[in-house]
Amino acid sequence: MMLERPAGGPIATMSAEYDDFGDVYEQCIEQSEIARRNLPFYVRLGAKSPGTVVELGVGTGRIAVEVARRGKHVIGVDNSLRMLDACRRRAAEAGVADSVHLIHSDFRAVTLAEPVPLVTMPFHTICDIAEPSDRAQVLRRVADSLLPGGRFVFDHFVFDAELAQRYDNVPHIEAEYTDPETGREVIFWTCGIYDLEDQRIRVVAWSDELDRDGVLVRRRYRRYTSCWIETEQMLAELEAAGLEVEAVYGDFDGTPLTEDAAVNVWIARKPS
Ligand SMILES: C[S@@+](CC[C@H](N)C(=O)[O-])C[C@H]1O[C@@H](n2cnc3c(N)ncnc32)[C@H](O)[C@@H]1O
Repeated sequence: MMLERPAGGPIATMSAEYDDFGDVYEQCIEQSEIARRNLPFYVRLGAKSPGTVVELGVGTGRIAVEVARRGKHVIGVDNSLRMLDACRRRAAEAGVADSVHLIHSDFRAVTLAEPVPLVTMPFHTICDIAEPSDRAQVLRRVADSLLPGGRFVFDHFVFDAELAQRYDNVPHIEAEYTDPETGREVIFWTCGIYDLEDQRIRVVAWSDELDRDGVLVRRRYRRYTSCWIETEQMLAELEAAGLEVEAVYGDFDGTPLTEDAAVNVWIARKPS
């Protein structure tokens, strides 16, 4: 497995926010209902791709490694070295290190040696690109990375005004687990602060490590910014990048998109 950097190095203005979440990411994934639902969808999709699969935001490789285990060559792109390290370890443990090629890059700068038939961006990762002009740049890169007729498949959550009102500025427990290194109980909290005008969520998150008596011994804070994208807006952004929408679903099992869908699952295509 290779770890590459793009020519010119990563673009500086978008920070690798996930570097700060490497210690809690897997525990949050284990307790995430959406992660449980999206895994078989992306693994099946990757496994039946006629060629190399590119995963933008490969993270710790929970999807990419499963795709590689099914005989595919995967290129994983991420701007977090910590996530890429975890992905590299996971691929080695699964015996597929040679099938997983990692690129350390911001999505906006990534260039592939040759175009591929499938690019994915699973798990709401597009919501990490809060600035519409940055998303436009990423979508153009995606279009350039695809073979004619190739597909770009990704998902994002659907904004729910009622939920946003209920959770705005309200801390809640995202995960509870025992830290494998320290043996301490950890409670991981997140608190989202919604900006309705700019469609952004500033998230402040913290982990509380407890001793055997439940007394707080360490609290660590992190922050990141996320956003939401309306269906019509996403459609317009894909079209502006020269991608056609083949389908948009309301879940990972092909459920049609309805008003109360919690996710949008997009199958976009580069025209032949
Ligand atoms: C929500 S995680 C998804 C990880 C993996 N696809 C999964 O489903 O478990 C998003 C990943 O995208 C990466 N990421 C976010 N914005 C990025 C950007 N602008 N350029 C490169 N990687 C980025 C993060 O570092 C993180 O690993």
